[in-house]
Amino acid sequence: MTTQTFTPTDAAFDDLLEIDAVTADLLFREARTVNVFEDEAVPDEKIQAAYDLVRWGPTAMNTLPLRLFIVRDAEARARLVSHMSEGNQAKTLAAPLTIVAAADPNFHENLPVLAPHVPGARENFDAAGEGVRVPMARTSALIQVGYFIVGLRAAGLHVGPMTGFDAEGIDAEFFAENGWKSLVVLNVGTPASEGASHPRQTRLGFDEVSLTV
Ligand SMILES: Cc1cc2nc3c(=O)[nH]c(=O)nc-3n(C[C@H](O)[C@H](O)[C@H](O)COP(=O)(O)O)c2cc1C
Repeated sequence: MTTQTFTPTDAAFDDLLEIDAVTADLLFREARTVNVFEDEAVPDEKIQAAYDLVRWGPTAMNTLPLRLFIVRDAEARARLVSHMSEGNQAKTLAAPLTIVAAADPNFHENLPVLAPHVPGARENFDAAGEGVRVPMARTSALIQVGYFIVGLRAAGLHVGPMTGFDAEGIDAEFFAENGWKSLVVLNVGTPASEGASHPRQTRLGFDEVSLTV
């Protein structure tokens, strides 16, 4: 397999994009996964601005099952970290802000408002049970996590996403009452001036990931 290398500054297709190169760099090409952050607070307003933007991204039946558990309290952060894999613990303890992105299997309660075009949706999903709702919530919420990472970048923030944790442990610790299912833990902030990210690895090119029939 030959791997086509796109460096972060590759601009071969810029003429075909409807966003300018600065925005393309900010959202994707120059944006990095961050492990070490400046000791600089992340205002709630920036998180709200990011969500306000990305809530318009599509989800199945407009269910919007993504939920955000914002961890600011030191004691709550320590409880969260106790469920994370060893390699994710120190950087999560040190991050200025951590968000647990979760899926809400009770998304159907909002459907009279979010999907009035589907009569009886709430009742039907209620009857279908969690066996149907949990995987459905997870699929759309994971898609929303992707939007949210890009939205945080649009708000000038940087993100370290992690799935190295005991999801059942986090769910029992924090979501016993509301039934949310943890998906991805996101450290959020401003990158440290040194050692913020691992070296950039290459990416697969379009020809390597696509088939056309
Ligand atoms: C869904 C997901 C799960 C990840 N889980 C972890 C993790 O548990 N620990 C970790 O150190 N990095 C984790 N990462 C970070 C990835 O390794 C990183 O985003 C990827 O290598 C790209 O890095 P770059 O954005 O700097 O190019 C995860 C990223 C994603 C999107």
